[in-house]
Amino acid sequence: MATNPQMEEVQAAAGKVLASYAGYINTWSIELGLRLGLFEAIRDTPGISVADLAKVLDYDPLYTKVWCNAGYAGGFLERSDGGFALAPHMDKVLLDPEFPMAAGGTAFVMTALRDPMVSLRERFGTGERIWWDKTSLEFREAVGMTGFPFYVRLVKLAFPKMAGVQAALEAGGSVLEMACGTCRGLTRLAEAYPEARFTAVDGDEETLEMARANVAKAGIGDVRLVHSPLEDLEFEDEFDIVLINISLHEARDMKRVVENAHRALKPGGWFVISDMPFPERLEDLRTVPGQLMCGIQYFEALIDDQLLPVSHYVKELKEAGFEDIETLDVTPIHAIVYGRK
Ligand SMILES: C[S@@+](CC[C@H](N)C(=O)[O-])C[C@H]1O[C@@H](n2cnc3c(N)ncnc32)[C@H](O)[C@@H]1O
Repeated sequence: MATNPQMEEVQAAAGKVLASYAGYINTWSIELGLRLGLFEAIRDTPGISVADLAKVLDYDPLYTKVWCNAGYAGGFLERSDGGFALAPHMDKVLLDPEFPMAAGGTAFVMTALRDPMVSLRERFGTGERIWWDKTSLEFREAVGMTGFPFYVRLVKLAFPKMAGVQAALEAGGSVLEMACGTCRGLTRLAEAYPEARFTAVDGDEETLEMARANVAKAGIGDVRLVHSPLEDLEFEDEFDIVLINISLHEARDMKRVVENAHRALKPGGWFVISDMPFPERLEDLRTVPGQLMCGIQYFEALIDDQLLPVSHYVKELKEAGFEDIETLDVTPIHAIVYGRK
């Protein structure tokens, strides 16, 4: 049969659009599957039938069947013994928070993005911006879940390559975490470096309430929690390490925050910026990490900032007088820039 090149191009264009919608549905299937414990139940009983899955979890059989089919369609589930099992490696990627490439938590932030996205219908015209205190608690909690794998990667992949930082943490150094969020990540650091002493700062009081609960639940002892804008911190020569994870790009006055980090450090101390590296070139946005970061940029715009390229942080550190500045690519959505006072 003769092919029609123009028709093929049109089909490919339509395919691109439809694949985007399919990804959106897959996101919801992941979110529901995690939130409702469906993936866990299937992991624990590979080959479980839809009827048994519904019975074990006390869920409606029709909803359960629809979800299983969607999970299979998305490639998260496989057929097994007439029932369903997790597809290979989904136990790690979706269910193991200690896996450095864990991606399950991101589903919560992607689905919680709905409200901010809907608000843009109005705000495109008004240009109105908001701050964290105007976001839903579900969104703030979800951000903490998305942030967690960054800390796992810091502990498992990054710090072992940053000799001075690792040594200070292991030797029980004092650590200031700027913009600690819900402290899920800080509890992971405290577990990895039990001798280290932590001070954590965030500017949003309700987020700090969640942080207090997470710190108490983790039973990690003394963590000093401080409610303050990062721009107003006045610590001086006090810390061996200042860390900021996926937050420096949000500073209202980045120069002041970097200067505050510098002042807070003891001589020889390290400032570690861990963030999502926005691509330097437009062409690099046409990748999965690029598309994900473009999604995050909608929210960043709403709170009046943007994710930034690594070169920006290097420049800030140089200008603030940091020395021995290094960068580390951890994954395509995770980079580190660090320097010494
Ligand atoms: C993306 S969250 C990251 C939280 C945490 N580091 C994590 O990775 O889960 C950003 C956090 O920074 C806080 N934040 C943003 N800008 C701030 C500022 N200028 N001063 C104090 N806190 C700030 C917000 O309240 C929010 O909790």
